[in-house]
Amino acid sequence: MTIKTLKSTSIVILLWVACHINAKPSSALIPYHLKEILSNLSVQEKIELVTGVGYEQSPQGMTGYTTSIERFGVPHMALLDGPQGIRIDWSKKDLNYSIRPTAFPTATALASSWDKKLVFKVGEAIGKEARHINADIILGPGINLQRNLLGGRNFEYYSEDPILTGRIGASMVMGIQSVGVGATLKHFVANNSETNRAALDIVVDEKTLRELYLRGFKIAVQDGQPRAIMTAYNLLNGVHTSQDRRLITQILKKEWGFEGIVMTDWMSGTDAAQQISAGVNLIMPGSSDDRSSIKKSLQSGRLRMEQLDQSVEEVLRSAINPLPTLHSYKLLNKEKLLKNNRSLARVAAANGMVLLRNKGKTLPLKSNIREIAFFGNGSYHSLISGLGSGRVCSTYRVNIIEGASNFGYGQSKLLEEIMRNYLPKSNPHSVCDYGGGFGRDPELIDERDISEKEIGLIERQSDAAIITIRRLPGEGKDLSEEDHFEVSQTELSLVRSVSDIYRNKKKPVIVILNVPAPIETESWADHADAILVSWLGGQEMGNAVFDILTGKQNPSGHLTASWPKKYSDLQSASGFPGIGTSEKLIPIFGGGDMAKPTKIEYLEQDSVGYRDILQSQKSVAYPFGFGMHYTEFELSNMYIKQRPHNVEVLMTITNIGEVSGADVIQVYSVNSDKGDVTFRELKGFRKTDILSPNQSADVTVTIPYRELEIFNNDNDCGWMLEKGTYLFFAAHSSQHIMSSGMIKLKGYPSCEKNG
Ligand code: BGC
Repeated sequence: MTIKTLKSTSIVILLWVACHINAKPSSALIPYHLKEILSNLSVQEKIELVTGVGYEQSPQGMTGYTTSIERFGVPHMALLDGPQGIRIDWSKKDLNYSIRPTAFPTATALASSWDKKLVFKVGEAIGKEARHINADIILGPGINLQRNLLGGRNFEYYSEDPILTGRIGASMVMGIQSVGVGATLKHFVANNSETNRAALDIVVDEKTLRELYLRGFKIAVQDGQPRAIMTAYNLLNGVHTSQDRRLITQILKKEWGFEGIVMTDWMSGTDAAQQISAGVNLIMPGSSDDRSSIKKSLQSGRLRMEQLDQSVEEVLRSAINPLPTLHSYKLLNKEKLLKNNRSLARVAAANGMVLLRNKGKTLPLKSNIREIAFFGNGSYHSLISGLGSGRVCSTYRVNIIEGASNFGYGQSKLLEEIMRNYLPKSNPHSVCDYGGGFGRDPELIDERDISEKEIGLIERQSDAAIITIRRLPGEGKDLSEEDHFEVSQTELSLVRSVSDIYRNKKKPVIVILNVPAPIETESWADHADAILVSWLGGQEMGNAVFDILTGKQNPSGHLTASWPKKYSDLQSASGFPGIGTSEKLIPIFGGGDMAKPTKIEYLEQDSVGYRDILQSQKSVAYPFGFGMHYTEFELSNMYIKQRPHNVEVLMTITNIGEVSGADVIQVYSVNSDKGDVTFRELKGFRKTDILSPNQSADVTVTIPYRELEIFNNDNDCGWMLEKGTYLFFAAHSSQHIMSSGMIKLKGYPSCEKNG
């Protein structure tokens, strides 16, 4: 075919795409033309297609941009950070956006709703905002496991459990993609800590890798069908994940059937040609060094043209084939979209908040409470997201104090004055307008000591006390036990003194935890009448806190990670954030100490989070899956049905309290023939609709056999379902079992069902 006929063919392609935009791409037509384009591309064009244009060169605050090939009508693809919303880099000069995007609650906060429908809606809303600024692919969701509570990016991830992570991740992907924008699962795989992340080797055995760290990705890939996946910075058993052919080509593409784009994390790995031969389609953000390394490797024969062609083909396919859903969403007027998304951000934040304590039904707040004293910097400068590429710079944020005033509460004037004089001037964009969200937050200063004398005076001006404890995480750095997990002396004495003085006058003390991850509560929880975890709850967090505190909404969030009594209670604590020191500094992107640690060994194997706690039988402050409501739910009529592709656990849930609310049902299972029945694992879950007092609902939790499989490491057989007597527990947390049942499964033998 000549170039001339090819040109007219590509016009036909464009016309076809324009006319059939709502139809599924025809697999007969598009690949045929793809091959034609591919065979007519120059080597330079191919190399440009698999390497982004560079971070600085990406226009309009986008995070990445692919090359277009105009003579064949192949468009650019614009890639934009997530996962909390869309991150526009406001430090860039050429922006012409009139409105800032919505900051939804961070991933952990969202997952704590255990509500897949809600997560889908948030994904859809994020996708719509991306459509408005012509982004094609969102760089989220992040679905790494929260292996250790000090992991610096845990706030961008969902849970310590892979099945919860995979299911919530799939819902987010489907939501984003429902409006025609691609989603990217990241960071594939084992990016569970940040210290020296680009040079850190994660040493993990195959069974643990498959059953814990890859499992969430497998579920989200198979159920969500994401358009893209991003490899991680770290090495996995000695190989950079972006250069690992077994991981990318064997496991992801061949075993799981992934057909989208595999891209690298920004400036990761050490060898662009090896990335392409491993199966990467897109090296991001792309640089001239990447391009010349690929070119040289082609010349020397280290990289074969067929390998490059394979990478190019997927980029081309995604660039010219819009998702079939693209035109199902008609662009709304921007103001209207942002208004809808504001309400959704509030609903999502409230649904993820977790009530940990409510002594004597302190909450909802009684009607005689009108004036509140707000202690803690976080009441005034509430944290709504972490730092880094996940930070969304929204138009505004509702601090907790503003949430209170929106509900008509007054505040102690004396305390308000003390804090106004102490805190820096509030600016919701303080870290966004430079460094694109990576900068240090200038609002983050230590808590002020408030003397008992001052507290005494403040108490006279208020009917209740709210103390906010806050913690700020960020990309590129892990949290520390001392500064994050432990409460400081100032925080501790504030809680104790406020508690003594207020309780003496029979006035309630409520602690709000504006934190990304578990903190220590043993030393002070008894001094609080109520404890609510608001997480880093997005721009509407202050309003959502008061939706819960006032009882406008019944709390229904449950923890997605265990809250230990002591950090050292976790097996993963020893050896975190890694061991070893390298003699030479390894140049990395994302800061940190570049010489150490060099590796981290996952010696605890599958004893992560609640699995660890159940096995060691240590008592926890709050178990995985825990969350209180203002009502009680009763579970009855549980039974189990075996279906061809799954097990169904059926039950009736009744609201036996006095107010309406939604319940979260968790189903754990263990094969009792294996001996250790303490090692039950989450296999399915369901959030009910809102039930009125005395209302019942029949609930089915569906558990595909896939979720019951184990990875057989003894031979090359892979996933299998073992024969056995399986116990199923319907529960309100990993430690609050409501009812149980069992079935015998024949299983399917190893080797029968691979992948
Ligand atoms: C992060 C990714 C992010 C990318 C682009 C990297 O530092 O690890 O999650 O998408 O930057 O901003």
